[in-house]
Amino acid sequence: DWTTGNVIEEQVAAIREQVGDKRAICGLSGGVDSAVAAALVQKAIGTQLTCVYVDHGLMRKGETEQVEKDFVAATGVQLKVVDAEERFLKALAGVSDPEEKRKIIGREFIRVFEQAQLEILQEDGPEVAFLVQGTLYPDVVESGGGTGTANIKSHHNVGGLPDDIEFELVEPLRQLFKDEVRMVGAELGLPDEIVQRQPFPGPGLGIRIVGEVTKERLDLLREADAIAREELTAAGLDRDIWQCPVVLLADVRSVGVQGDGRTYGHPIVLRPVSSEDAMTADWSRLPYDVLSKISTRITNEVKDVNRVVLDVTSKPPGTIEWE
Ligand code: XMP
Repeated sequence: DWTTGNVIEEQVAAIREQVGDKRAICGLSGGVDSAVAAALVQKAIGTQLTCVYVDHGLMRKGETEQVEKDFVAATGVQLKVVDAEERFLKALAGVSDPEEKRKIIGREFIRVFEQAQLEILQEDGPEVAFLVQGTLYPDVVESGGGTGTANIKSHHNVGGLPDDIEFELVEPLRQLFKDEVRMVGAELGLPDEIVQRQPFPGPGLGIRIVGEVTKERLDLLREADAIAREELTAAGLDRDIWQCPVVLLADVRSVGVQGDGRTYGHPIVLRPVSSEDAMTADWSRLPYDVLSKISTRITNEVKDVNRVVLDVTSKPPGTIEWE
């Protein structure tokens, strides 16, 4: 009999059996899968689990606080937060090419995460032998079904550790689909904002600024994005929309007029889409009054933005993200 209660009970027993009295590490991304996997493992082994959250400074407004405060409050999980914003901004300085940005963000992320892992390995306590991952059933099928191990290399470190450390994977969501993961998360008491979160790319707002990524531009985009999300939620549209990237065209300027002055600001693009699996998508026919409210608020409240445009391209030919 499939109930979320049974799934939780079974997985908690299986995790305890697998991990024994050793320790485990779990990377949190702010997304649903890693959050639910971590919550399950925390329920099973408590403080034998340490979660790591790398704050790359490319998250949306409130998301880091959601992990640091709400997730910790809901689960009691032991969390190590690494504030790496400056490091990421420095690495991204002067870079406009989308794939180059992705490469840099991915590379820096691994370095920071591995460093955090090494610090945890060096703490007193039982051996750290496990890495928790939020692998879902569709991922298992896609990759051919094997379970695995993960390596970390200690070459960034000053020593005292073996050259290569191998973790065994703990993957408590391997039999579940996304909607089941959300149900389990809700049953575990995770906040709705985490459990119902729409897809958000790993490189975050770094690939939603067309042009170079700077702190100032990120702050501006965070404000515009927060307004769009707030109004879509208020209008009850979250379930109808697959996701709605909000994009800053940082290299484009257009003329506007505000108050009694001419402005020369940047456009913000709204990209609401409906989709089943992100492979194809259609632009969402949002109610005009909602679009109007978002546009008015963004141009009134966000400095340097004087125009809001709507993306009406399906996928294909357009991708969901602009970069
Ligand atoms: P596209 O833009 O290719 O996006 O139509 C399809 C889905 O994938 C997400 N996306 C990413 N996710 N890293 C991620 O983790 C990325 O580099 C990345 N690029 C796109 C996008 O948000 C959408 O859900």
